Amino acid sequence: MKLWGGRFRGARDPRFEKFSESFSLDSRLIHYDLEANRAYVEALGRAKVLTAREVRELLSGLRAIGRSVKRNPRWAEREASEDVHTWVEERLGRIAGAAARKLRTGRSRNDLVATELRWYAKDASRLLERGILDLWNSLLHQAARHPHAVLPGYTHLQPAQPILLGHYWLAYFEMFERDYQRLEDCRRRADELPLGSGALAGTPYPIDRLKLAGALGFARASRNSLDAVSDRDFACELAFVCSLALVHLSRLAEDLILYSNPAFGFVELADAYATGSSLMPQKKNADALELIRGKAARTIGKAAGLLALLKGLPLAYNRDLQEDKHALFDAVDTARECFAIAAGVVRTLRMDPARMKSATAAGFLTATDLADELVRRGAPFAEAHEQVGKLVRYCLERNCPLESLGDAEARAIIPAWDKTLRSIALSPERSAARKRALGGTAPAQVSKQLARCRKLAATLSRQAD
Ligand code: ARG
Repeated sequence: MKLWGGRFRGARDPRFEKFSESFSLDSRLIHYDLEANRAYVEALGRAKVLTAREVRELLSGLRAIGRSVKRNPRWAEREASEDVHTWVEERLGRIAGAAARKLRTGRSRNDLVATELRWYAKDASRLLERGILDLWNSLLHQAARHPHAVLPGYTHLQPAQPILLGHYWLAYFEMFERDYQRLEDCRRRADELPLGSGALAGTPYPIDRLKLAGALGFARASRNSLDAVSDRDFACELAFVCSLALVHLSRLAEDLILYSNPAFGFVELADAYATGSSLMPQKKNADALELIRGKAARTIGKAAGLLALLKGLPLAYNRDLQEDKHALFDAVDTARECFAIAAGVVRTLRMDPARMKSATAAGFLTATDLADELVRRGAPFAEAHEQVGKLVRYCLERNCPLESLGDAEARAIIPAWDKTLRSIALSPERSAARKRALGGTAPAQVSKQLARCRKLAATLSRQAD
């Protein structure tokens, strides 16, 4: 069945039929389509376009379709149609008879599909928020396990200064907190009803669009029909937020891939999320994390694809827009999957605080603290920096860690060398504890942030339930 057969005489090339169908993709919008139709039928009833009896017949037909679709989750597999909207109308015709011929009065698939995709985007952003909450809980679980353990912090991936393990995990919490906010924000903008915009110009039937918006759970109705049927900025936004969240996740993945390398040995992935090699019996590979890193690239591609789809498109609806669903569904599905896997990987990670601590010693991570102590005693920073640099070089040339350095040797390079400087050199914990200002890695700051994050996660989890 076609919704537009009248003006055509010739049949379509079957290859073109297949080329242009979107049912195989948009059949997953079926429940949105049925609901949008339900509300629209009621609106037509209120506008006296349909009689009370027609409204009853159509509503009961839509309910029957809903039931049969629910009963059989694989309903779409044995069906074919140009798109889900066509399928519903055809099906309704079989159940409700002549009344179904009035279903699309004053309406177009253009305003319908924009409505359904916005609705999907609203629901998808909520599901993604839940995915972030799950990941948060895993991060918080780890952050609380050894909150005050120290590990090397890196810049340029070279050992820099000691940080607390809790501080490390909470850095990712912050990133995902912003992603969470971006999802809420993007949902607010998606929350606008296009239905009632017709094909492009609006509808001549007296439909109360604000009431229709309320009936479909939308906060507002669109103010411009051309914009409503033709823009997909909400889809771009959501795909971007998915991409950015996966960019954050890919950085966490990369850290953990490195940290699970035996040369670091800070963490070990649970067997549940690792794989081996068909050739090398000793291997334990972090494939779950590598795939997360890889899937971030795929989602970035979808976001870029959506922008490219809109670029230069004339107003209003164009069939190009049908491609939006492929990109958006994939970006959302991929992001949800990655969050679920990452939550599992992080939750089950085994950590080795002893390895982390010994890595801080090997990397001279307290060098800055030594210079700071010399400054406290009155040396200009540049001079302190120079002296400590020479001490590091001395140790490197002898392949000797700071802890095996004799006091006399040290004093030859740093004349002020004493017990205090030695203990500063040997205590990464003390180094961390000095970063007491807001946002630093001192235990008091980390505990405060951990409490804040816990509270936020609990509040948002309660709201989500
Ligand atoms: N399947 C189309 C889409 O997903 C909706 C149909 C609009 N088609 C049209 N020829 N106006 O965008």
